[in-house]
Amino acid sequence: MITLLSVLLCGCGDKEAEQKEYIGIVSAMDNEIDILLDEATIERVDTVAGVEYHIGTLHQQPVIITRAGIGKIRAASGITTMLNKYPISKVIFTGIAGGVADDTQVLDVVVGTRLLEHDYGILTNDGFQWRSGDPGYGNKDGEYYACDPQLVDLAYEAAVKVVGKEHTHKGTVATGDQFVASEDYVKKLKEDYDAYACEMEGAAIAVICINYKTPFVVIRSLSDKADGNAHDSYEDFGDRAGDNSSRIVLNMLDQMGSNP
Ligand code: ADE
Repeated sequence: MITLLSVLLCGCGDKEAEQKEYIGIVSAMDNEIDILLDEATIERVDTVAGVEYHIGTLHQQPVIITRAGIGKIRAASGITTMLNKYPISKVIFTGIAGGVADDTQVLDVVVGTRLLEHDYGILTNDGFQWRSGDPGYGNKDGEYYACDPQLVDLAYEAAVKVVGKEHTHKGTVATGDQFVASEDYVKKLKEDYDAYACEMEGAAIAVICINYKTPFVVIRSLSDKADGNAHDSYEDFGDRAGDNSSRIVLNMLDQMGSNP
């Protein structure tokens, strides 16, 4: 009775819960969030369309963690549900990628400054013409989607602490619905788009976050070099790369706690 009365008088309770904002943490695969789920205190798990949203606290920060699945469709669906259903202040995508830039090595980290969809365009008799973005909105040329500069700086600092400055890069991340295992295509990603890394979800996260006006960053730890050896390299280094990216997220959360 006293509890009910005090809730009625102060008008808090549900409202307080509604006002709490969460940091959204999204990945494609389990091995990209295992460490985060191990370290988090999870209060509740909601399942929407077969995707789990783990709601809780991680390194003192309120978080919602989800493994949305591989590729742009699953990433877009997972992030849209998250941003629709919960109050999210910012989004961190964590995961692995193929290294594209010459100076990247396996287990290096690329913090995305901007994303693009490298497989979005027109297939003509003269070849592929890149038209990333929505042609309906008049994007005649391809378009890049910028990450939030403050989150990029925070992620970069965190990555330097986790893997060292010589293994940390900032740059363009190219997204497509293909696991790239081709030297020729790596050359194209470098020359046409100035890409540092390639993966399969980042641009989808970017487009939806931009539409929802939610700051975001994409962190990628390299499991392979997107070349003929990419699949074997991914098998050998995928788990370690996924863990590295998660550790960077933990470091970011610690920094957010010391500079709220
Ligand atoms: N994720 C990890 N390695 C990748 C690659 N080579 N291509 C696309 N996505 C990846």
